[in-house]
Amino acid sequence: MAGRTDVTYDIRDIGLAEAGRRRIAWAAREMPVLRLIRESFERDRPLDGVRIVACVHVTTETANLAYTLRAGGAEAAICASNPLSTQDDVAAALAADGFRVFAIKGEDNDTYYRHIHQALDLKPNIVIDDGADVVTAIHRDRRELIPGLYGSTEETTTGVIRLRAMEQDGVLAFPAIAVNDAETKHFFDNRYGTGQSTLDGIIRATNILLAGKTVVVAGYGWCGKGIAMRARGMGATVIVTEINPVRALEAVMDGFRVMPMVEAARLGDIFVTATGNINVIDREDFEAMKDGAIVANAGHFNAEINLTMLDDIAVEGREELRPFVEEYRLQGGKRIVVLGEGRLINLVAAEGHPASVMDMSFANQALCCAYLAREHSKLEKRVYAVPADIDAEVARLKLTAMGVTIDRLTPEQEKYLRSWQSGT
Ligand SMILES: NC(=O)c1ccc[n+]([C@@H]2O[C@H](COP(=O)([O-])OP(=O)(O)OC[C@H]3O[C@@H](n4cnc5c(N)ncnc54)[C@H](O)[C@@H]3O)[C@@H](O)[C@H]2O)c1
Repeated sequence: MAGRTDVTYDIRDIGLAEAGRRRIAWAAREMPVLRLIRESFERDRPLDGVRIVACVHVTTETANLAYTLRAGGAEAAICASNPLSTQDDVAAALAADGFRVFAIKGEDNDTYYRHIHQALDLKPNIVIDDGADVVTAIHRDRRELIPGLYGSTEETTTGVIRLRAMEQDGVLAFPAIAVNDAETKHFFDNRYGTGQSTLDGIIRATNILLAGKTVVVAGYGWCGKGIAMRARGMGATVIVTEINPVRALEAVMDGFRVMPMVEAARLGDIFVTATGNINVIDREDFEAMKDGAIVANAGHFNAEINLTMLDDIAVEGREELRPFVEEYRLQGGKRIVVLGEGRLINLVAAEGHPASVMDMSFANQALCCAYLAREHSKLEKRVYAVPADIDAEVARLKLTAMGVTIDRLTPEQEKYLRSWQSGT
C-alpha cells in the first residue's frame, strides 16, 4: 500500500473507536496544560495549513496532542514509534475522527516501516519523532520530502543522540528540536513517568510482589533514577549498574548498591534496562542469573537485552507463560523470563506514562510545532534546544493548573543576583 495517498488508515478495528474516545477523554482530564494550549491554538491557528506526521506511541495522550495540533489548523498523520506500543482503541478513535492513522499493536517490522511511509505520504512540513526512525527514513529513502520540511521535533533521549550523530556527520538535512532535553520534559516524563509506568508494566505482566525482591536497574539516567526510586518505594532492594562514574556516584549517595552487571546478575530477581545502549544484559549475565530471573527493558529500542544470544544459549524455544511473559530454558534447566520481547515494558504491558506527565511533554511538542511553523526560515540544519521561554511557560502553566503559586523576585533580589560587589 506504500505510495498510495488515498489510504487514510490501517488499524486493528474501527469498531474500537468508542472505547478509545472514552479513554482519550479520561486522559484529557489530566492534561490541563495541553487543554490551555489547544484553546489558544483554536483562537490563533498557528498551524494553519501545516502538515504534520507524528511518529509516537499511539496512546490516549498522543490522541490529545493530535486534537491540539488539529485545533491549531494542522493536518496530521499518525504512525507508531514502536511495533508493540499502539493502543488499538485509540488508533480507531483517531481514524474515526478523520486522522490518517497507520498503527496496529503487534505489527511486524515490515508493517511498522510501511506504516511510517504511509504516514509520510502526507508530505509533512513538520515531523514529530520519537526515536528518530522517521527522520532516518526520510534521509535514507524519502529525500524528495526534504525541501518541504520545516523541521522535526524529537521526543526521546535515544532520538536526540541519533540526531546529534547526524549533525556531527554533516548529514542532517533540516532543523530538529530536542524536545526531550527541555527541563519540563526529561525531569518529569523520563523520571516520574518512566519510573511509575515501568513498574506498572512489570506488575501488570507478572503480578509479582516487589517487596522483598532484588531489582537491578541498568543505567542511572533520568529513567533509571525514576525506576530505582519507585522500586525502592515498593519495598525492593535496588542495585544500580552504570558506566558513567558521576552517575554511579550519584546512585551510591542516593543509597543504592552499585556494581557491575555480571555481579548484580547473581543477586537480582528482576532486571530493568534503561540505558539507550546495546547488549547491556548479555551472555555472561544470563549465565550468572538465578533460576526464574525476570528481565525487562524500559529503554527506547529492544537492543538492551541480547535476546539473540539468549535464544542461542537456550536449549528449549521460548514458551509464552502469560501475555508479554516468555520463558527461556538454559542448559541445566535454569529458566530466564523475558517481558514484552525486550521492548519498552511500560508501553507494551501497561499504558505508558500517565497523562499528567505527558501533559508537559506534549505541551512542549505542540508549542515547538508552532515555533517551527513560525520561525523555520531562520533556522539552520542543526539540533536546537527547546526555546527557554517555552520550557518556562510549560512549567508556569502546569503549576497554575495544579493550584501552586510561587514567590517572585523582589527588585532588591534581582539587583543582588545581578551584582558581584556585596559579599560577607
Ligand atoms: N520507556 C519509556 O517510556 C521511555 C521514556 C523516556 C526515555 N526512554 C528511553 O530510555 C533510555 C534512557 O533514557 P534516559 O533519559 O534515562 O537517558 P540518560 O542518558 O539520562 O541515561 C542513560 C544512562 O545509562 C547509562 N549507561 C549507558 N550504557 C550503560 C551500560 N552499558 N550499563 C549501565 N549503564 C549504562 C549512561 O551512563 C546514562 O547514565 C533511552 O533509550 C530513552 O530514549 C524511554
